[in-house]
Amino acid sequence: MENNQAIGVFDSGIGGLTVANAIQKVLPQESLLYFGDTRHLPYGEKSALAIQEFARRISRFLLSKNCKMIVIACNTASSVAYEVVKEIAPNIPVINVIDPVVKHITSQANLKKVGVIGTKGTINSNIYSKKLLSIKPQLNVSSLATPLLAPMIEEGFFSDKISQTIIENYLKDPQLKGIEQLVLACTHYPLVQDIIAQFYQNDIEIIDSASQVAKVVKSTLFEHNIISTSAVNHQFFVSDYTQAFEKSAKYFFHDNIHLMEISIT
Ligand code: DGL
Repeated sequence: MENNQAIGVFDSGIGGLTVANAIQKVLPQESLLYFGDTRHLPYGEKSALAIQEFARRISRFLLSKNCKMIVIACNTASSVAYEVVKEIAPNIPVINVIDPVVKHITSQANLKKVGVIGTKGTINSNIYSKKLLSIKPQLNVSSLATPLLAPMIEEGFFSDKISQTIIENYLKDPQLKGIEQLVLACTHYPLVQDIIAQFYQNDIEIIDSASQVAKVVKSTLFEHNIISTSAVNHQFFVSDYTQAFEKSAKYFFHDNIHLMEISIT
């Protein structure tokens, strides 16, 4: 494996850019190859079988581009397709976005109640409660599906009245009453983190996977001795061109993007 190959990162759309952005911040010398599966978005509404098939195709594509690592920058795909990706790419490290967050939460001693919001796919898989409770059975984990958020964010509604009303409606749910921390279990959600923080009047910790995942990506590159030493060259692919994607990619990576549409079968 070549150290100077790109890190492959994928999501259904723009959400994984929050993870790619965090990786870029801690590892500015690494090249990223991003794939947004915009043709199949939102993943949160699809069956596990369908997502596994998308993940299989994307992983093959990333391998064909010689990626040295795959980051599944999507909670929904991490919930149901982590094993599938590892099977397709047995010779390179594969990182999901759930385990780093579980590690962060379970490392805190006095935590009693945690809320988790995510897509229907992620919440129905119950993966967060299963993983958290297997390590900390005394923890109270309250999970809530918030299916309108990812499509809303993908369409560019981050910081207006519409997004605020929808978010507040979800967060008012009695299930989330009394939480001390809230896990943003969808990589799209950091884009509306300000509205969420405002709702809680900055009183609780909001945990997004991006920074936790970036730390794990860094330590894994060191562990495998595959740190890049060449010039950075980010590449961005989508399965269906959308202006919204291009706009968001430019927001995170400035004009330093060259977006390519590609059909993967
Ligand atoms: N960003 C993704 C996640 O973390 C997928 C959202 C979607 O496409 O429904 O779950």
